[in-house]
Amino acid sequence: MRTLIKNGTIVTADSQFVGDILIDGEKIKAIGVNAEPDVDKVFDATGKYVLPGGIDQHVHFSFVYKGSKVRGFETSNAAALGGTTTVIEFVNQVKDKGLVESLEDYKKSDAEGISMVDYGFHVVMTDPRPEVIDEIPKLAEAGYPTMKLFMAYKGQFFHADDDAILSAMLKGKEAGVTIMVHAENADMIDVLTKKLIAEGKVGPYYHAVSRPPVVEAEATRRAIYLAELADAPLYVVHVTCKEALQEIKDAYAKGQRIFGETCTHYLTLDESDLAKPGYEGAKYVCSPALRTQEHRDALWEAVDRKWLNAVSSDHCGFDYAEQKHMGYGEGKSFADIPNGAPSLQHRLTVLWTYGVETGKISPSRLVDLYATMPAKTNGLTSKGQLAPGFDADIVIYDPEYRGVISAETSAEGVDYSAFEGFEQKGRPETVFLRGEVIVDNAEYVGHKGQGKFIAGEPFGAAYKPED
Ligand code: URP
Ligand code: ZN
Ligand code: ZN
Repeated sequence: MRTLIKNGTIVTADSQFVGDILIDGEKIKAIGVNAEPDVDKVFDATGKYVLPGGIDQHVHFSFVYKGSKVRGFETSNAAALGGTTTVIEFVNQVKDKGLVESLEDYKKSDAEGISMVDYGFHVVMTDPRPEVIDEIPKLAEAGYPTMKLFMAYKGQFFHADDDAILSAMLKGKEAGVTIMVHAENADMIDVLTKKLIAEGKVGPYYHAVSRPPVVEAEATRRAIYLAELADAPLYVVHVTCKEALQEIKDAYAKGQRIFGETCTHYLTLDESDLAKPGYEGAKYVCSPALRTQEHRDALWEAVDRKWLNAVSSDHCGFDYAEQKHMGYGEGKSFADIPNGAPSLQHRLTVLWTYGVETGKISPSRLVDLYATMPAKTNGLTSKGQLAPGFDADIVIYDPEYRGVISAETSAEGVDYSAFEGFEQKGRPETVFLRGEVIVDNAEYVGHKGQGKFIAGEPFGAAYKPED
């Protein structure tokens, strides 16, 4: 099957031009003007943008908070509708199981035959026994070149101490496994949380008070020092504040390979959402917490100037009616609210509407942040770029569409949207997954199980000396 996408404005991480893309089977065959006339199907993209399919490197389809679990891969059509053709999910190492075994078991039970987009996994190390640390090189061999440790969440089985992080970095660098951290000081949060609850300050807004920017900055700096000691690269997930950003910039300027991402909600929402009347603020309880306008401004500058190199969703599909209400009522507090917000479907449209349309970032910068760099960081060497030989994961984006984001029209399977009522400019009109149309006229037309596991190569971008 040969398909031609004609006359679109093709956007790559470093250029933008009007041209054609020829797809042959699963791959991009050629890019240019009038690439080849002999094809089975033609898509006219005149007046539209043609982007690589997005790579969302921070998705939770199996996160459990205090016994409550998010929506899983059965909702991955939401990613497709949002122009994301590959997701990388965080999967916990299961107690008494190895890292690779935990991922392989999960892959079979929860992803294979279900996922509607391509996928990979980051393992979350929960049990850092010496034999588990020694297993890290096997992760790389099995196509999982990244691993995350949670510095936050004191008392939860997935919390990691400095010993675990340093040991993981020392072993990881031998095999090209990139260590990622959720950087928040768990003890600071614990002390502040107990104090606030004792004072009767239990509503959703106090979630932010319990974890101010210094909590994130301290852990970010500590993780950077650990990486310096290990002489290893580090990837800091969901950076939210100026102070943590400064730590990353300083370390990078010193020559350390410290990379960071932020997420759609930190660019567009803030503390005032947590302070919404009644219990509404629970919808916005995520960690680190939403910040203030000055931090949002700093994050937009950082993504534009390459101080941060990805924008992910940190998608967490907890319902409001049941799950977010775990923190409501007698004896309950913000600390009982499951952390995280749904955002799988709206990463591209939010970035386009509030980044590109406002002039904060260029279309090329968007492409780099939402597809190209996440692919490079995670060793997805066939993904994230519009170039011959790459997978034909392609989005035809209609910039003229106007709409409003709402849970009612979202496929995330969650009863609310963090971006409810947000104006939306443009939308993914057609989405190709390895050459097959999975979104047509903004409707999902693919099928369950169409996505496949994509093995990552070790020594991703965080190991490379430039870029
Ligand atoms: O609040 C969040 N981000 N929930 C998901 C788990 C995590 O910390 O990334
Ligand atoms: Zn996190
Ligand atoms: Zn997360």
